[in-house]
Amino acid sequence: MSEKYIEAKTVDADVAPYLDIADSVAKIHKKNGRADTKKPKYFVQTFGCQQNEADSERLAGLCTAMGYEKVTTPDEADLILVNTCAVREHAEKKALSIIGQYKHIKDRNPSLIIGVGGCMVTQEARANKLKMSYPYVSFTFDTGAIHTLPSLVHNALTGGARKFILSDEWKINEGLPLTRESNHMAWLSIMYGCNNFCSYCIVPYVRGRERSRRAEDIIEEAKQLIAGGAKDITLLGQNVNSYSGGDGCDIAELMHKICAIDGDFRLRFMTSHPKDASDRLIEAMATEEKVVKHFHLPIQSGSDRILKEMNRKYDTARYLEKIAKLKEAVPDVSITSDIIVGFPGETEEDFLGTLDILEKVRYDMIFSFIYSPRNGTPAARMENQVPHEVSTERFERMLALQNKISDERNRRFEGRTLRVLAEGVSKNDPSMLTCRGDCVRPIHVKADPSLIGSFVDVKVRKVETFCLEGEILG
Ligand code: 5AD
Ligand code: SF4
Repeated sequence: MSEKYIEAKTVDADVAPYLDIADSVAKIHKKNGRADTKKPKYFVQTFGCQQNEADSERLAGLCTAMGYEKVTTPDEADLILVNTCAVREHAEKKALSIIGQYKHIKDRNPSLIIGVGGCMVTQEARANKLKMSYPYVSFTFDTGAIHTLPSLVHNALTGGARKFILSDEWKINEGLPLTRESNHMAWLSIMYGCNNFCSYCIVPYVRGRERSRRAEDIIEEAKQLIAGGAKDITLLGQNVNSYSGGDGCDIAELMHKICAIDGDFRLRFMTSHPKDASDRLIEAMATEEKVVKHFHLPIQSGSDRILKEMNRKYDTARYLEKIAKLKEAVPDVSITSDIIVGFPGETEEDFLGTLDILEKVRYDMIFSFIYSPRNGTPAARMENQVPHEVSTERFERMLALQNKISDERNRRFEGRTLRVLAEGVSKNDPSMLTCRGDCVRPIHVKADPSLIGSFVDVKVRKVETFCLEGEILG
């Protein structure tokens, strides 16, 4: 792992004072004899989606600016930050359980500071729960208050009262430093928030309204990344299809501009909403060599009645039309989707509609979820909540079908030579490297770790449902 600290070139007026406080925190540590070899340590635990991973890199950047050094286990840390998710109940339970376990570390080390941020604690009830039931948590901060971390740490370090921030103020906050997890793979946030209010989803309530970063700031960051060795850049946002970066710059134009930057790199984007996925975006994928031929286009359900109840603003016919256009423009495209089973009122017939979509689209991979009621969303108040056993049974049936389709889809790569990025050492076999390219499945090869971060040509020898195996050519 080669994490990297990057300072932003543009700093918003609202952010600058917090960077000064970060300096003050670093000075306190220095005064306490904690500089250079004895630096205080931070540990960030991240739950949830790529947006949270990107936010955690901002939290890590602020920790670096405050003079902390990263550690990989919480036991060694002087500052633990938990970046939570709220999209399903399971994610919240997991975060609360981990925070519960941190009490033992705090008991052993009373000067430890524990802070909790992210979507879970952007809900008042959850922030209150942490305040009342987790007295060893020093502070919580909502998703709009990431930039205030230095003042929260400063307050805790100097003996101030516990703080529970619910600012409900979601801006862009340009200028936060980043400590990136990887040098060769990078998240690049292009927008924040969501305006869609799908009836099951908590995100618009915990991440605020849609706001796009200025195109010039994104391009500057992309240039910096590429100059620093980034080979795989993912443009991030809750719905990147509605990106609007000023002067009519949409997602397609932004991608053309980034692809025009000199360098050997690949560009991805995540995630899309079918109602906004434009022909221009499909064309950008078709014509730009640097754009990875993978389109993640969540359908959520294959029943028009359920899509309406979900407030998705498209029907299956319109969705399939987009898929047809995409397949025509990019013949070898890999398509993936998010699907929810057991949405309130989902009948067997509705569910069969979803299976039908899997057969028609033939996704390379799906991310499937059992519906989880989220307090405050319209769907949680709907009648006809589907019993868990029914959802689970449908979920299993859907997975079995999709595994068969994935298996068949993967076979098209057998014997082919693919240009892929060696991402890192395989988690299952340390003698193998995990590589990725247009194909959404990881490709494992026996190779020297010195190749990590380079593009390699791999001949695919073996194809399985969840991964491929190959050998490096040349
Ligand atoms: N229950 C289950 N899945 C959900 N998602 C969002 N909200 C819920 C929920 N309440 C899924 C959607 C979304 C993905 C990121 O998470 O499929 O696309
Ligand atoms: Fe949630 Fe829908 Fe927004 Fe995606 S588009 S974040 S599912 S509300």
